Amino acid sequence: MKTNTIKTLHENITNGLHGEVTIPGDKSISHRAVMFGAIARGTTEVTNFLQGADCLSTIDCFRRLGIEIENTPDKIRIHGKGLHGLHAPSSVLDAGNSGTTTRLISGILAAQSFETTLTGDASIRKRPMRRIMEPLSLMGADISSVNRNDCAPLHIKGKSLHGIHYRSKVASAQVKSAVLLAGLYADGETKVTEPVISRNHSEIMLRYFGADIRTEGHTAIVRPNPDLTGQSVNVPGDISSAAYFIAAGLCVPNSEILIRNVGINPTRDGILKVAQAMGGDITLLNEKHDGEPTADLLVRSSSLHGITIEGDIIPTLIDELPIINIMAAAAEGTTVIKDAAELKVKESNRIDVMVEYLSAMGADITGTDDGMIITGGRPLHGAVIDSHMDHRIAMSFSIAALLAQGETIIKGSELVEISYPSFYDDLHNLRR
Ligand code: S3P
Repeated sequence: MKTNTIKTLHENITNGLHGEVTIPGDKSISHRAVMFGAIARGTTEVTNFLQGADCLSTIDCFRRLGIEIENTPDKIRIHGKGLHGLHAPSSVLDAGNSGTTTRLISGILAAQSFETTLTGDASIRKRPMRRIMEPLSLMGADISSVNRNDCAPLHIKGKSLHGIHYRSKVASAQVKSAVLLAGLYADGETKVTEPVISRNHSEIMLRYFGADIRTEGHTAIVRPNPDLTGQSVNVPGDISSAAYFIAAGLCVPNSEILIRNVGINPTRDGILKVAQAMGGDITLLNEKHDGEPTADLLVRSSSLHGITIEGDIIPTLIDELPIINIMAAAAEGTTVIKDAAELKVKESNRIDVMVEYLSAMGADITGTDDGMIITGGRPLHGAVIDSHMDHRIAMSFSIAALLAQGETIIKGSELVEISYPSFYDDLHNLRR
């Protein structure tokens, strides 16, 4: 990836944003297709795979573990070798900027017959890994932080694992998935109970690959030693990427955007509920409900008003909170976001970073222990934004720049490569 690319954006949209955008594949689902394909027997074919840097990190890790993966423009093909088919890598595994790669692969590596060291970029090496080290250790794993700071690099020595019932303090699909993947290799049933249900893509896709997995309320339960079989996976568009165009369509006056083929899994669709509760005009068209549900979203400019966002909805929109902050700054009245302390441990501390740069653009925003309070309606002006190694910060402030007077400079704009490589092209194509 290029580093420190600067993007300069001006407010010069007089006639609004118009047209269609087809959002690239879902990041969470793309990661899982590679991982589950690698530990299944036979070939897994994935269409609409997200060719973002994070998912390419997952491919790279599994290639180093001995899995052949063909990456062609229209599909990727993973030649899986079954649960016990991975080989010791000849070098350290590098997860890049990807928390999903780091945490999920740890669950698989904890059960192998070899040792691995897993690292990532400067952002990953600051993110908390105790949350997976604890449950995996309870299962009997030998997993340690090389620098003894509970962060990557992680050293993982494969062991035989025991089934456990893990009651997680955080609603985290990465933690849940790491434990469930380790549970595939355990000597008995493994259960994970979450305080609030997090995204359930692992449960849906593992079942599709043949795992014996079920959910009871907030608990996911997996039985060990399944015969996983390679499958065809068509990845829906990523609602987290669609969120930038939802916000742009609602907040830029005179806009109408059709966003095609967006995943609307109920564990991910909080952005739609919040945008509608704020007064946003969003129509779902062409809904499909087999496997992962999808729809096209027709978004029209709307007068938004502030709301309170808290409780069980938070995990369903956790990655969208930065762009929801921008919507709140454009809305009339006050938006209060609570129960979102997890924002502090994402690719950046998203409470601090949003407060710093939305304030710099003239917004009224205050950070709290578990969220923020934004009183909208103040005119925004351009500013210099540092993305802090966080793709969602770069994209959120690119949309804020469209709502501001004057020039906004986004430092680190190349970070869109992580989850949405064609972001600036797609945004540009909606102008006329
Ligand atoms: C993800 C889970 C979420 C989310 C991340 C992707 C996943 O993280 O923020 O972008 O694919 O499982 P947490 O598990 O830390 O909540």
